[in-house]
Amino acid sequence: MTRHFLELSDAGGDALAAMIGDAIERKAWRKDVPKGAPDGDAPLAGRVLAMVFEKNSTRTRVSFDMAMRQLGGSAIVLDAGTTQLGRGETIADTARVLSRMADAIMIRTDDHAKIEEMAAHASVPVINGLTDRSHPCQIVADLQTVVEHGKALPGLELAWLGDGNNVLNSIVEAAGLLKFNVRIAVPEGYDSDPAYIERARALGARITVTRDPREAASGADVVVTDTWVSMGQQGAEARIAAMTPYQVNAELMQQTRADALFLHCLPAHRGEEVTDAVIDGPRSVVWDEAENRIHAQKSVLRWVFGQL
Ligand code: CP
Ligand code: NVA
Repeated sequence: MTRHFLELSDAGGDALAAMIGDAIERKAWRKDVPKGAPDGDAPLAGRVLAMVFEKNSTRTRVSFDMAMRQLGGSAIVLDAGTTQLGRGETIADTARVLSRMADAIMIRTDDHAKIEEMAAHASVPVINGLTDRSHPCQIVADLQTVVEHGKALPGLELAWLGDGNNVLNSIVEAAGLLKFNVRIAVPEGYDSDPAYIERARALGARITVTRDPREAASGADVVVTDTWVSMGQQGAEARIAAMTPYQVNAELMQQTRADALFLHCLPAHRGEEVTDAVIDGPRSVVWDEAENRIHAQKSVLRWVFGQL
């Protein structure tokens, strides 16, 4: 059966843990190897990934391209606006054609239903490079970063501040799969999808929702935030006003454990969801997190090709 990676739960907890472990091992192996040189075993030699972008991207685009190079394969980038998709060719027909021409498809789009449609009509693996609903690839990198910085995932206390968005949905999903706890502090009206929370709780994760950012941060092992205005969202002014009390700043970081980490998927809006002092400060691991997109995406690719 074709392995799609639309959500972390498509892989499940064991495979997600295996991806994190594989990413850490492969990263360590190629410590002094030039970035574009293939890994010794080149496990995806000859494979081509087609990447479709209906939204902007820096990290996802570069990390998947680099991931394919390091795995011995290659990637093709399609900006939707310059493809026939942008002129109305259907997702289904695009899926059928790309399946004949490439070995896997990565797509970044808006409506999550589009990626499900792509997977339904593709005969090769489809990977979610972010939708309005979720961003699973990011979370593999985030969890790799947390583990590399010496924190065990089971029982971890992760605080999320700001907007109840796509990145948070995938964090909550991961919490259920790997048994860590999430304290969500978001303003009223900006809550995340309750279905993710219910599923994670059913799997044994403790997910708490509060309007008090200090309460969420109190004793946390990891603090995570993201932009207050995601791609495609309207009403920036109202969002920023509502979320201003949820800014991750030095005072907020004083509530956490002394060794707490700060994560942000980037791009950051300095002075909004996070201050310079925090993102450039000693607890911030955001550049490791960004680099880890390459290593984590390699594991996702190996998983969809049945190698993990
Ligand atoms: N974090 C992330 O997905 O970044 P890009 O939007 O640059 O791909
Ligand atoms: N929540 C952000 C993540 C960007 C990587 C967005 O969807 O724009």
